[in-house]
Amino acid sequence: MLEATPENIALAAAFLNEGKLVAFPTETVYGLGADARNDQAVAAIYDAKGRPTFNPLIIHFANLEAAAEAVIFDDRAKKLAAAFWPGALTLVLKRREACPVSLLASAGLDTLAVRVPRHPVAHDLLEQSKIPIAAPSANRSGRISPTIAEHVLGDLGDVVAAILDGGPCSVGIESTVVDLSGDRATLLRPGGISTEELESVIGPLAISGTDDTAPKSPGMMSRHYAPAIPIRINARNANTGEALLAFGPGVKNRYVNLSRSGDLKEAAANLFAMLHMLDQPGFNGIAVMPVPEVGLGIAINDRLRRATSTEKA
Ligand code: TXA
Ligand code: MG
Repeated sequence: MLEATPENIALAAAFLNEGKLVAFPTETVYGLGADARNDQAVAAIYDAKGRPTFNPLIIHFANLEAAAEAVIFDDRAKKLAAAFWPGALTLVLKRREACPVSLLASAGLDTLAVRVPRHPVAHDLLEQSKIPIAAPSANRSGRISPTIAEHVLGDLGDVVAAILDGGPCSVGIESTVVDLSGDRATLLRPGGISTEELESVIGPLAISGTDDTAPKSPGMMSRHYAPAIPIRINARNANTGEALLAFGPGVKNRYVNLSRSGDLKEAAANLFAMLHMLDQPGFNGIAVMPVPEVGLGIAINDRLRRATSTEKA
């Protein structure tokens, strides 16, 4: 636990650049941060939170210009950013082709949730580290979001390199999440910025789940990345025309392998990038070898099972 002095913020920025986890204050809640470009560091977030599934994460940037390198801002997004950033608003936008953020951080989706926080410690950490920071709320799955550093220490103290203590969070509830990736602006999660405030800038919002034309939040299930070709799980080998996604030792080197050593964190880090790589019209399917149903393997299998179902994004 570190007081948020300039020296300690610089130290925390160095930890992030080394791929370590750092908890830090934002004006909404404390975040569990990692270098958003680093698949392994992002996998460590999911490992630490102990979520049984890979929910896409919010990516934090120092300013609008930095965020615009990762996602495409349309007029609505520019208006909302001008009105509420830095602040408690998260925008879901289309990823750029050259987006540097790990595919695991957005659970393989072609969209990305981005936010520029107002808290000076979060801002300084983003400026000093010079990286986009992926950060869910800094609590283990199923616990409430932390609004003071002591909450984080009790819940995740053993898995973070540092906790920057910036005092209590002024907003105290999570950011509002608005999906602008489709034609209709849609509220995915109510939060620190009210619907009325948002509507005063861009007009009426659709509410996720209440309207058939509104996309659903991945948090509410149903909108997931799934390859265009079928996935077959618990496969021992590939059938004719299938690509094999291997796991563990004893498999020929020419196969793409989630982790040759059988390391689940490495497998999680590789999962979406490898699925995207094998999702090609030249194959008639992807056969995935069994992944043990423990630790991060639970979330990996959850995603693979969803990708085998007929439900598509
Ligand atoms: O205030 C906050 O938003 C805090 C601080 C740390 O920034 N973060 C936070 O993150 O609450 P998390 O991971 O607990 O919640 C992220 C929310 C989830 O509801 C998730 O489904 C949604 O954002 N989300 C993230 N990426 C998305 C995407 N590409 N499409 C739709 N929803 C997305
Ligand atoms: Mg949360």
